[in-house]
Amino acid sequence: MRLHDSPTLLAGVIGWPVAHSRSPKLHGAWLARYGINGEYRLLPVAPAALPAALRTLPAQGFVGANLTIPHKEAALALCDVLHPTALRAKAVNTLEFASGKIIGSNTDGIGFIANLRAHGVDPARGPALILGAGGAARAIGAALQDAGAAITFCNRTPDRAIALAKDFPPANVLPWEQRETALKDFALLVNTTSLGMAHQPPLTMSLENASPDLAVSDIVYVPLQTSLLVEAVARGLKPVEGLGMLLHQAVPGFRAWFGVQPEVDAELYRIVAADLL
Ligand SMILES: NC(=O)c1ccc[n+]([C@@H]2O[C@H](COP(=O)([O-])OP(=O)(O)OC[C@H]3O[C@@H](n4cnc5c(N)ncnc54)[C@H](OP(=O)(O)O)[C@@H]3O)[C@@H](O)[C@H]2O)c1
Repeated sequence: MRLHDSPTLLAGVIGWPVAHSRSPKLHGAWLARYGINGEYRLLPVAPAALPAALRTLPAQGFVGANLTIPHKEAALALCDVLHPTALRAKAVNTLEFASGKIIGSNTDGIGFIANLRAHGVDPARGPALILGAGGAARAIGAALQDAGAAITFCNRTPDRAIALAKDFPPANVLPWEQRETALKDFALLVNTTSLGMAHQPPLTMSLENASPDLAVSDIVYVPLQTSLLVEAVARGLKPVEGLGMLLHQAVPGFRAWFGVQPEVDAELYRIVAADLL
């Protein structure tokens, strides 16, 4: 068979709404870079239509998909096989359609850890303070614990942090009001709340009490440099920006669908960052 006769490999991001997703820009850049006969599409799917969409996409030539809001939790019940990362995160963000089966995994934790390492930060460098107790906190808490870090959840709504910590023994819980004074006891701070994101309230979090070797990670990436990261730089602490997590979490899906291990580099960062402005 001549190369151009081979079928176009299709993947995409399923969400509702989904027009805001940066994933087509990201995967499109890799498809072009590696000369792959593939397409990555926006797939607007309403919640009630998700089961039918997952059944019909493979027949349309799709080899897999990403899932975003509001489908990540609902997809757990629709997969034939769940990777341990999806079970730990209680959410699916990456699907592979293979041998008639729907295989679900969660790559947020992998992306978070890979981004830390790309910034020269060892995830097991010491105790980690995780602000937030939502979906991202769960995936990141699991990944940090698997990497060997002691984790503490700190959330505005204490019951959510307590419930989350119960799923990850021996995780600790810190009252939201103590997030600044307790900082000296931690080697890594991670903001997984939506605070500090464009159109959201600011994150009130002074780094005054930080130990000098604290690494400060913010997974919010709009704006690219959040006020938390700006303060970390001003105090000589190690900043870890959030866009890198988005780029790294896309690697396992691309590899599974298109057969190439893609590289996260400065050029990719520049392409996706330009799309955020
Ligand atoms: N960089 C990446 O690749 C990446 C990946 C995933 C997510 N994210 C970002 O991470 C953020 C969280 O995502 P998620 O899926 O975990 O969301 P989520 O499940 O809705 O959780 C939101 C969290 O933010 C907290 N929060 C919201 N408003 C607050 C306020 N006014 N004061 C204090 N806490 C507040 C919530 O606390 P309560 O429990 O008290 O409501 C909760 O802990 C979003 O900005 C998302 O864009 C980035």
